[in-house]
Amino acid sequence: MQQKAVLITGGAGYIGSHTALLMAQKGYKVIILDNLGYQQTLHAPWATFINDDFANEATLSHIFRNYNIQAVMHFAAFIEVNASLKDPRVYYQNNVTKTCTLLQSMLEHQVRHFIFSSSCALYGIPEYTPIDEQHQKNPITPYGASKHMVETILHDFARAYNFDFVSLRYFNAAGAQPEYNLGEQHQPETHIIPLLLQALRMQKPFKIFGTNYDTPDGTCIRDFLHVKDIALAHYLALEHLEQGNPSDCFNLGTGKGTSIKQLIEAAQKIFGVKLHIVHDKRREGDPAILVANAQKAKQILHWQPHYSDLKYILHSAHEYTIKQLMHKQFMQTHV
Ligand SMILES: NC(=O)c1ccc[n+]([C@@H]2O[C@H](COP(=O)([O-])OP(=O)(O)OC[C@H]3O[C@@H](n4cnc5c(N)ncnc54)[C@H](O)[C@@H]3O)[C@@H](O)[C@H]2O)c1
Repeated sequence: MQQKAVLITGGAGYIGSHTALLMAQKGYKVIILDNLGYQQTLHAPWATFINDDFANEATLSHIFRNYNIQAVMHFAAFIEVNASLKDPRVYYQNNVTKTCTLLQSMLEHQVRHFIFSSSCALYGIPEYTPIDEQHQKNPITPYGASKHMVETILHDFARAYNFDFVSLRYFNAAGAQPEYNLGEQHQPETHIIPLLLQALRMQKPFKIFGTNYDTPDGTCIRDFLHVKDIALAHYLALEHLEQGNPSDCFNLGTGKGTSIKQLIEAAQKIFGVKLHIVHDKRREGDPAILVANAQKAKQILHWQPHYSDLKYILHSAHEYTIKQLMHKQFMQTHV
């Protein structure tokens, strides 16, 4: 009997690479399909890597025919909220149209289980907080709308075909696994923790976008979740489907909000460096507060975040960046 396998699209990216490692540790053969869209590097001896677009039908067919694929975990997407406002076409093309091609290929090859990387961006401006799954979906950016559209398609597929899915709506992914050389390496980097660490390291000014929000200190509040906790939810989501449970959507977050000012203060305290802060205007598409109510994932998937303490998140992200820089320097001087 051929080893159970999972196909991980976007497995050379930030969250997909951590999940690929966990799935390999859980005994799955892991196939990563990623086109290395931002020239990122991936050192993942625990996985089979295929460098291609996730909507290449011939490649998908080859994978589905040659491996015992139990499920597709679909991370591949364009992920920048602001870029999606400037050029929505490419966001709908990559995140929605191509996902339809992937789903079509799954149906053709009788691959039934799909785990989708959704986002809190599909809720839009929260009407209440913490946000639960029942909250109205009113995305304010093409990025958020693309996640909402795919979820709609998934519901229709699950109703019509022999097909089941779990959609995991992450809040803010953060942290790293430096011991495996896994962490954030987006190009350009738009996520706050890598930018904050860069500013601390290089003694560069750090911009806060918006200080007049309706929050206690005027800055946005976010729910930071360690990427290892997100990876675990994927494994549990697959178990949920394999046990014959129905398709469903779950929020993933800690339920604890941290303001941008609180995050900066924590980082300054941990690393003993004072930052030069610059106040900038609000960015379009940034709600004041995004905090998850993740009770449903806890009750149904038996998921618990274990690594999402802010100190641990910052330390692991910092250690990863330092390792990356040392590696770069070594390569520049020795190669
Ligand atoms: N990072 C977060 O905080 C966050 C929050 C909510 C949801 N998400 C979702 O989680 C998923 C992963 O996010 P991430 O932060 O790891 O992003 P990432 O950019 O690091 O990873 C995405 C990966 O997909 C690949 N990719 C994109 N389009 C592709 C294509 N057409 N063919 C093949 N590969 C392609 C990229 O090369 C990249 O490796 C995304 O779907 C994102 O929308 C992320």
